[in-house]
Amino acid sequence: METVVSGIRPTGMVHLGNYLGAIRNFVRLQDDPLYKTFFFIADYHSLTTHADAQGLNDKVISALAIYLGCGLDPDKAVIYIQSHLPQIPELYLLFNMLAYKGELEKVPTFKEKVRSQEQRGQSINAGLLTYPVLMAVDIVIHRAHKVPVGKDQESHLEITRNLANRFNHLYGNGVPFFPEPYAFNYGEALVKVPSLDGTGKMSKSAENPGSAIYLLDEDEVIRKKVMKAVSDSGPTVPNQEKPEVIQNLFDMLSLASAPDTVQYFEEQYNNCTIRYGDLKKQLAQDMIQLVTPVRNQIKAYLHNKELLAKIARRGAEAARESAEATLQGAKKLVGMHYYL
Ligand code: TYM
Repeated sequence: METVVSGIRPTGMVHLGNYLGAIRNFVRLQDDPLYKTFFFIADYHSLTTHADAQGLNDKVISALAIYLGCGLDPDKAVIYIQSHLPQIPELYLLFNMLAYKGELEKVPTFKEKVRSQEQRGQSINAGLLTYPVLMAVDIVIHRAHKVPVGKDQESHLEITRNLANRFNHLYGNGVPFFPEPYAFNYGEALVKVPSLDGTGKMSKSAENPGSAIYLLDEDEVIRKKVMKAVSDSGPTVPNQEKPEVIQNLFDMLSLASAPDTVQYFEEQYNNCTIRYGDLKKQLAQDMIQLVTPVRNQIKAYLHNKELLAKIARRGAEAARESAEATLQGAKKLVGMHYYL
């Protein structure tokens, strides 16, 4: 049986990008008998950019409700909060000895964060530089094979493989202790849900809240946001290539709508009769259909704090057991097995 690990940062409201790029796959994977699954809330990770103690507490609780509302089930998957596992910071320390400053500075997400934080006059902490090391540890702590994530996490998976292989090479005595983990999606390619404002991906930290559909958005809000999505004046030549903003609309349609709906609008685009207003109306309708049941479930879980606490404790226990076995195995290989 292969092991699956993934997580989300509790830094803001969870959006359709998180759902379609990652969480929807988590739910499928927990039901797949081929896999043992671990899903967590990456609260340490959110400290690299946010220091808001009360806010963090609320966001972790709501992230847990979101996981459950999306369909994660503690009877099928191990669901836990990262900081409940003391084994993670311990293995992180060991892995920091394997990571090179140069390779961390080259990570695209680090370079982006540096650019945006420096623009705002904020300094860069060491935790931000070593973010991919912590993420690697999140994955290897259960010796995972597959990591369901969106396209934006690809470079982090590459670093994870490098660090796991380096550990194996240095300490494994020819036997790989850590498997090589790969980003995973049930479809062919990893998913990138675009932002509604036509630039980049849908993101939690977007300055413009109209550019993302949040799982807690009400139907009318979703409809308004989608109707305002950037488009253009329409194709003028049959079968013409789609500009990026239009491709984005089609990408969202293929993630949220049925294949024949996508085909219908493709044909209309190709023969230049498409009306983007109709496409957006359909897209909004299909997104609402996806989000409404999830939103109602999330709200129900948010009202049951005791149940959330119980689930978090149960998950922590199971996750610690798995993490402890890995940590002890790794420390032994490193040579740290004296007097115990
Ligand atoms: P985070 O919290 O930014 O996002 C959670 C998941 O959602 C995916 N995602 C998207 N997918 C498609 N389109 C989008 N617009 C979009 N936006 C976000 C992300 O790819 C991710 O799968 N570093 C991670 C959290 C993390 C983690 C881990 C993940 C920490 N340790 C170990 C996997 C394994 C992050 O910031 O995700």
